[in-house]
Amino acid sequence: MKVLSVASEIYPLIKTGGLADVTGALPGALARQGVAMQTLVPGYPAIMKALENPSAVHEVPELFGGPAKVLSGRAGELQLFVLDAPHLFNRTGNPYLGPDGKDWPDNAQRYAALSFVAAEIGRGVISSFAPSVVHAHDWQSGLVPAYLRFGGGPKSVITVHNLAFQGHFPASLFPFLKLPPHAFGIDGVEYFGGVGYLKAGLACADAITTVSPAYAQEICTPENGMGLDGLLRTRSPVLHGIVNGIDPSVWNPATDPLIAQTFDVKTVQRRIANKRSVEEKFDLDRGDGLLYCVISRLTLQKGMDLLAASADRIVKSGARLAILGSGDAALEQELAATAMLHPGKIGMITGYNEPLSHLMQAGADVILIPSRFEPCGLTQLYGLRYGCVPLVARVGGLSDTIVDANDAAVSAGVASGIQFAPVSLDTFSSALDRASLLYSDASTWNIIQRNGMKADVTWTRSAARYANLYRSLAGA
Ligand code: ADP
Ligand code: GLC
Repeated sequence: MKVLSVASEIYPLIKTGGLADVTGALPGALARQGVAMQTLVPGYPAIMKALENPSAVHEVPELFGGPAKVLSGRAGELQLFVLDAPHLFNRTGNPYLGPDGKDWPDNAQRYAALSFVAAEIGRGVISSFAPSVVHAHDWQSGLVPAYLRFGGGPKSVITVHNLAFQGHFPASLFPFLKLPPHAFGIDGVEYFGGVGYLKAGLACADAITTVSPAYAQEICTPENGMGLDGLLRTRSPVLHGIVNGIDPSVWNPATDPLIAQTFDVKTVQRRIANKRSVEEKFDLDRGDGLLYCVISRLTLQKGMDLLAASADRIVKSGARLAILGSGDAALEQELAATAMLHPGKIGMITGYNEPLSHLMQAGADVILIPSRFEPCGLTQLYGLRYGCVPLVARVGGLSDTIVDANDAAVSAGVASGIQFAPVSLDTFSSALDRASLLYSDASTWNIIQRNGMKADVTWTRSAARYANLYRSLAGA
């Protein structure tokens, strides 16, 4: 069975967050379920460069201001269709933002173009790959289900990775979208008088998935539905929560070339070499005490203001903290200033550094994830796999994937991390205190660490659920 995935980022070619990890890992996991997934991605320079032996398989003479081609080719393990439209995508750096840090002013056109071409491929314009289902991700491909609904084609699925990003544009865009007039309505792309890309996807897709069962419930509530909960409630019969997995060929502490010392569940003590290396890279005092890490977009979603407010407490407890991240400028500055105040105890590296993120998971004792909401979260899954115990807010995918180390779970031998709720400075502080206490009991700590390392966080089960969903749609 052939499925076209449509994505605005894909690991290892272009990544701003977990979406890329998911779109990069799914095709491999689905191949083992008998699903041939090929992914349509924009022809950003990084992708054009990585494409091996590309061949042009489709041409569009005029696509939102210029000519475009669809190239087919491989990039490493990935089988790709690449939308080669230089007027839209030949721009280096972050895929969504210009050099001024603001959204590209033509993002509406760029991702409408991606979605329009996806629908054409869905309708079979490339005869060697006529998919039975088209799978869109987030607002950037939110128009795909609308193009298929109003222009004909196979069934569609849209996955919500984060409801906070909706792709909302003025109504004046609508005439340029190549959709029939009646598509501008409540069952189509219209949203509060404008055009909503994610809204269009949610209204028009044959199935909706999101990246954890808990987030599937949360987004149907007014508190977490970000204005779309009403629509999501009406669509709840076709809404599924399917938790993300990790790609064990990229995230495996026993073989990871990016860490100082490999290890597995039987040789956890070898993590110490990685701890030493993290201390060095972050200019931290050397020691055997608790080493926390943060690997994150620095945003309010991720609770990074709570982290800054907890710094003194962390240092007073005798622990150290290594922060890797970038994002909101004010939070970046606040955290950097906090690190300056605590030399040797708090170290911060600003920016995006994939290899360093592997080393931190392999060397730190605890990864802190105090998110206000978290559709799934991948860093806690990497933490589990690498024996870096996750301390997380009990929201979304964090609540589905971590078993809190309360007394009952510890004695039942199932605890894998520390959770706190509701999200506040008080509850986060208590969770930090619990972490110190648990860490001081080496044998309990070791059990928590091993439980996490043994947990099944691979894609196997979730890929089977996606495959079943595609099959039920294609057969319907
Ligand atoms: P989100 O997609 O909301 O940012 P996830 O936890 O799903 O959150 O995914 C984040 C991904 O980005 C993970 O692979 C994580 O390791 C990575 N990541 C986040 N910040 C950085 C950073 N500064 N450097 C390297 N990797 C990072
Ligand atoms: C989004 C979410 C994150 C999720 C990722 C991949 O970026 O914020 O929770 O893990 O998508 O689905």
